Amino acid sequence: MKKLILYSVFLLLSIRIKGILSDRTSLKIYENIQSDIFCFRRLNATHQIGCASHSGGNVGVLYVIEVEEEVENITSVEGSPPMPFVVAMPITLFNMNNMRAFKKLENLRGVLIFKPETLKPLKNFSPDQSCPNRNYGFYTEKLNVEYAACKKKEWNKLPGNEALGMMFEDWGVPIFIITNKTHIQNIKKYYNHFNNGTEGLPLCSVQMTSVMLAAKDSDTCMRRNKLISNLNEVKTCDPLSDKNIVNPLFPTNKTEGISNRSLIVVGARLDSFSMFDKLAPGAHSTVTGLVTLLTVAKNMAGLREKILEKEKAKDKNILFIIFNGEAFDYIGSSRIVFDMQKNLFPVRILDGIKDQPALINLHHVSHFIELSQLAPPDVPASLWLHTDPVSVKQSTEVSDKVKHLVQIFETEAKKGNIKASEVPADLPLPPASFQSFLRHDNSIPGMVIADHNDEFINRYYNSIFDTNEVLDISFLTQILTNISTAVSGTLYQLLTEEELNEHLNSTEELVSGLLECYLQNASCPLFRQIADPLMTERLRVEPYPLYVSVDSGGPTKANAITLYTRYLLAYLTGEKVEDRDRKNCTGDVQDQIYHFDWMAGSEVNTTGVCIKSTVMYTVAQSPAYVLNDWKSTEYSTWTESVWLETSARLFLQPKKSQEVITLVTGFIIFFVSIISVYFINERSSIIFNTKPLVGC
Ligand SMILES: *[C@@H]1O[C@H](CO)[C@@H](O)[C@H](O)[C@H]1NC(C)=O
Ligand SMILES: *[C@@H]1O[C@H](CO)[C@@H](O)[C@H](O)[C@H]1NC(C)=O
Ligand SMILES: *[C@@H]1O[C@H](CO)[C@@H](O)[C@H](O)[C@H]1NC(C)=O
Ligand SMILES: *[C@@H]1O[C@H](CO)[C@@H](O)[C@H](O)[C@H]1NC(C)=O
Ligand SMILES: *[C@@H]1O[C@H](CO)[C@@H](O)[C@H](O)[C@H]1NC(C)=O
Ligand SMILES: *[C@@H]1O[C@H](CO)[C@@H](O)[C@H](O)[C@H]1NC(C)=O
Ligand SMILES: *[C@@H]1O[C@H](CO)[C@@H](O)[C@H](O)[C@H]1NC(C)=O
Ligand SMILES: *[C@@H]1O[C@H](CO)[C@@H](O)[C@H](O)[C@H]1NC(C)=O
Ligand SMILES: *[C@@H]1O[C@H](CO)[C@@H](O)[C@H](O)[C@H]1NC(C)=O
Ligand SMILES: *[C@@H]1O[C@H](CO)[C@@H](O)[C@H](O)[C@H]1NC(C)=O
Ligand SMILES: *[C@@H]1O[C@H](CO)[C@@H](O)[C@H](O)[C@H]1NC(C)=O
Repeated sequence: MKKLILYSVFLLLSIRIKGILSDRTSLKIYENIQSDIFCFRRLNATHQIGCASHSGGNVGVLYVIEVEEEVENITSVEGSPPMPFVVAMPITLFNMNNMRAFKKLENLRGVLIFKPETLKPLKNFSPDQSCPNRNYGFYTEKLNVEYAACKKKEWNKLPGNEALGMMFEDWGVPIFIITNKTHIQNIKKYYNHFNNGTEGLPLCSVQMTSVMLAAKDSDTCMRRNKLISNLNEVKTCDPLSDKNIVNPLFPTNKTEGISNRSLIVVGARLDSFSMFDKLAPGAHSTVTGLVTLLTVAKNMAGLREKILEKEKAKDKNILFIIFNGEAFDYIGSSRIVFDMQKNLFPVRILDGIKDQPALINLHHVSHFIELSQLAPPDVPASLWLHTDPVSVKQSTEVSDKVKHLVQIFETEAKKGNIKASEVPADLPLPPASFQSFLRHDNSIPGMVIADHNDEFINRYYNSIFDTNEVLDISFLTQILTNISTAVSGTLYQLLTEEELNEHLNSTEELVSGLLECYLQNASCPLFRQIADPLMTERLRVEPYPLYVSVDSGGPTKANAITLYTRYLLAYLTGEKVEDRDRKNCTGDVQDQIYHFDWMAGSEVNTTGVCIKSTVMYTVAQSPAYVLNDWKSTEYSTWTESVWLETSARLFLQPKKSQEVITLVTGFIIFFVSIISVYFINERSSIIFNTKPLVGC
C-alpha cells in the first residue's frame, strides 16, 4: 500500500515536472533587444528632463500599436491596460500628442520606437523649444524686455511640428529607439503570437533598464557630488562641456598685444542635440554653417601673403571661433566672453612661458560675423542678414558699421548669384553665439547670416531627422561654395578696404569633401588625411554625433568630432614643417602660439606630415561651474546624469498557477534531495566500499 502511494506521488510529480518543462521551452523565448539608442536624463538649475527607469528596470506587458486609432483606444479610460505595460510603435506615431496621452497613463512603464533605416522622416519634427535658448543670450527680461523670450517672433514654430518641446519634458519612463529590422520583426512576432487579442497569460513582456543616478536638478546633484567626492569617486552628474576651437588668421604675440577694435570674429557652432544618445546629426542646424566656416578659413589662409602686403590691413586680424555647447543655452560662447573679461582668453598669461598669444578682450573685436544655418532651398539662393536692433538704435557708430558690413556682403553675394537681404529692422537676432558677446558689449557691430527670415526653414532643427537625407547635397555644395566665396570676399575687404579680384582655388571640391565627412562617411578622404597615420584604419563609417557631451578630462581631450574639426582646421590653415618627424612634431611648453600635429597627409608614400598651425582649444564649460553657482540664471546650468548600463529584453510572463506550481515543485525537490543526501550519507559505508585503496 505504502509503495502504491509513493509510486503515484512520483507519477504525479513527474507529470507536473514534465508539464513545467514543456512550458520551460517557451520560456526560452527570452531575448535581448537593441538598447543602445536611448533617451537619457539631463538637468538644469530647476528641472530634470528626459528619461529614466527604476533601479531594477521597468517591466510591462508588450503592446504593439500600428495605427493612430489604437493609440486612442489604449489611452481611453476603458481601453487602458489594467496591468503595467510597455508600448511599442513606429516612429510615425511618436509625437507630442500621443506621448502626452501615454504619459498620463498610470500603468505605462516604457516606450519602444521602431525606426527602420528605410523610414522616411516625418513632415516637421523638431524637439527643441519654439524659442531655442529662450532665457539666455541678449534678449532677456533683465536686459531687453521688449524682445525677451521671442516676444516678437518665435523662431522654431513651424506649423504641424509634432515634436515641439519633446526634448524638454520629463517623460518618467525609458524610451528606446530600435533600428534593427530583425528585432522589430521579433517584437511584432511575439506580440502577435502571445498578446494580440488574448486576455490571459502567458503574455510577452518587456524589461527596460536605463538607470539614471542624478535626480531633481543640477544644484541637487552637484551638491551631492561635492559631498560624496571626499569619500569615493561616485558622481551622479557632470556639467555639459567640451572644447571650443579658436584660430587667429595671423599669429598674435603677448609682447605686442592687439589694438582696440581690430579683430574680426567669424563664428559658427559645432554642436547639435537630440533626445537620444548617439544621435545628433545636426546636418542643416549645424554642419552647413560649420563647413562654410572651414572653407572660409582655408580661403583666407591662402590669401595671407596678399593681405600682408596691404598697408590698410597692417593692424587687423581675423579670429575664427567654432563654438561648442551652444544648443544648451550658449555654453561655449558665454564661457569665451567670461574668459575674455577675466583676461584669460585664449590662454592664461604666465611670465614663465616665453611665447604666448596676445590676450583678447571684448573691446578688441571690430566685427562679428556668424554663420548660422545655411541651406537655402531655391535658385537664386536667398540669404537673410540678421542684425541686432538694440545696439543699432543705441549708437550711430554701430549702426553705420553694421550698414557698411551688410552692404559689402550684399555685393559680394551678388557675384555668386546669391540674393542677400536684410531682415525687418525690428526683428531681434535668432539664437546665435553673437548674443553672448552683445550681452556684455553692445557696441560690437555684427551680423548673423542665415537661410531664413523671421522663422526657421529647417524642419528638423536639432532632431534625429536632421541628416543628409533631407538635404540636396550636390546643390548644397554649390551654394556653400558661393557663400564661402562671398564671406571670404567680405573679410578681405574689411581687412584691406579693397575688393578681392582673385579666383579662389578649388573650394567646391573642399566643400563637397567636408560635407561627405560630416554627413555621410566619417571614413572620408579628408578625415583620413588628418588622422594619425596609425589610426586611419580605425575611422568609422557612420558620421560622428555632434552632441556636446561631458568633459572627457584634461586640457587636450575632446569629443571625436571636436578633435577632427580641430585637426581639419589646422590642416587647412597651417603649414607643413619639413624638419620634424613623428617624435618631435609636438608642442613646446615654452610656445603656446604655434601648435604642431602629426597627420597622415595627402601624399601616398610618406609616413605622415607635421602641420604647424595657430589652432587651439579653449574650454567650453559654462561659467556657472567656474563660479560654482549651480542655480545661475545668467549662465547655462545643464548637466547630464551618470547612467548605469542600459538593456532591454523580451520574456514570457507565466500564469500565476504556473508560478505557484514551479515554486512548490522546487520545494519538494529541495526536501527530497536533502533527505536522500542524508540517508545516503548515513549508509555510505554500505553503499560505497570504504575499504582503503592502499593497504598498509
Ligand atoms: C478600438 O476600440 C473599439 C471599441 O472597443 C473597437 O471596436 C475597435 O476595433 C478598436 N480599434 C482598434 C484599432 O483596436
Ligand atoms: C530648466 O528647463 C526647464 C525645461 O525646459 C525650463 O522650464 C526652465 O526654465 C529651465 N530653468 C532654467 C533656470 O533655465
Ligand atoms: C540585428 O540583430 C541581430 C541579432 O541580434 C544581429 O545578428 C544583427 O547583426 C543586427 N543587425 C544590425 C544591422 O545591427
Ligand atoms: C493584431 O491583430 C489584429 C487582428 O488580427 C491585426 O489586424 C493587427 O495587425 C495585429 N497587430 C499586430 C501588431 O500585428
Ligand atoms: C613674440 O615676441 C617676442 C618678443 O618680441 C619674440 O622674442 C618671440 O619670438 C615672438 N614669438 C613668436 C612666435 O613670434
Ligand atoms: C582700448 O579700450 C579699452 C576699454 O575700452 C580702454 O581702456 C583702453 O584705453 C583702449 N586702448 C586704447 C589704446 O585706446
Ligand atoms: C591658388 O593656387 C595657386 C597655385 O597652387 C597658389 O599659388 C595660390 O596661392 C592659391 N590661391 C589661393 C587664394 O588659395
Ligand atoms: C555660384 O557662383 C557662380 C559664379 O561665381 C555662378 O555661375 C553659379 O550659378 C553660382 N551657383 C549657384 C548655385 O548659385
Ligand atoms: C567610406 O569611405 C571609405 C574611404 O573613402 C570607403 O572605402 C567606403 O566604402 C565608404 N563607405 C561608405 C558607406 O560610403
Ligand atoms: C626632429 O628630429 C629629427 C630626427 O629625428 C631631426 O633631424 C630634426 O632636426 C628634429 N627637429 C627639431 C625641430 O627638433
Ligand atoms: C609609392 O611606392 C611604391 C613602391 O615603393 C611605388 O611603386 C609607387 O610608384 C609610389 N607612389 C608614388 C605616388 O610615389
